[in-house]
Amino acid sequence: MPSAFPRRPARLVVLVSGTGTNLQALLDASRNPAYGAQVVAVGADRDGIEALARAERAGVPTFVHRVKDHPDRDSWDEALAASVAAAEPDLVVLAGFMKLVGERFLDAFGGRCVNTHPALSPAFPGMRGPADALAYGVKVTGATLFVVDAGVDTGPIVAQTVVPVEDDDTIETLHERIKGAERQMLVESVGRMAREGFTITDRKVRFGK
Ligand code: GRF
Repeated sequence: MPSAFPRRPARLVVLVSGTGTNLQALLDASRNPAYGAQVVAVGADRDGIEALARAERAGVPTFVHRVKDHPDRDSWDEALAASVAAAEPDLVVLAGFMKLVGERFLDAFGGRCVNTHPALSPAFPGMRGPADALAYGVKVTGATLFVVDAGVDTGPIVAQTVVPVEDDDTIETLHERIKGAERQMLVESVGRMAREGFTITDRKVRFGK
């Protein structure tokens, strides 16, 4: 089983905030040893979400850090980084994680943390990607996997996938179509990152060493 990281399979920590369909796609893919990566821990910024239940059903350890349980955002960020570090990840995957990570987190995991955004960057950054694309009237939109930096959905792009916007779309139908394509892109790209490695030069992310 190939891996670009010394450990085989590569260790993934996945951070989530919602239903966890992207997480589930990674959990399913990693059942095949040839995938080259394994989810070793799942972290969240809130309790009681389906994503955590999915991790528990898969027997993957979980942790939760709610911002409101910490005196300030920096100490939340530090606690989050510490829990992620304790799982010794090779790659951190933000999969529907609805918080911006801070300086401490990026000090520890910058360059090996990816996030998926339900729009075609640089268009429509932020929390309302599908709604903003629909309101603008674009004919295609999609999802973007990028290496996390200090901005909002601004990091170097690993992969993008395109879906049509249909005349009768609602935010929900459009987001569901995006999510189908997004999951495939995430699974395929994270697997390649784990198996082949990747480089980042002048914002250009390339697979391979
Ligand atoms: C995804 O579309 C992600 O890009 C966005 O929220 C959705 C999360 O879906 N930020 P899920 O929790 O993986 O089902």
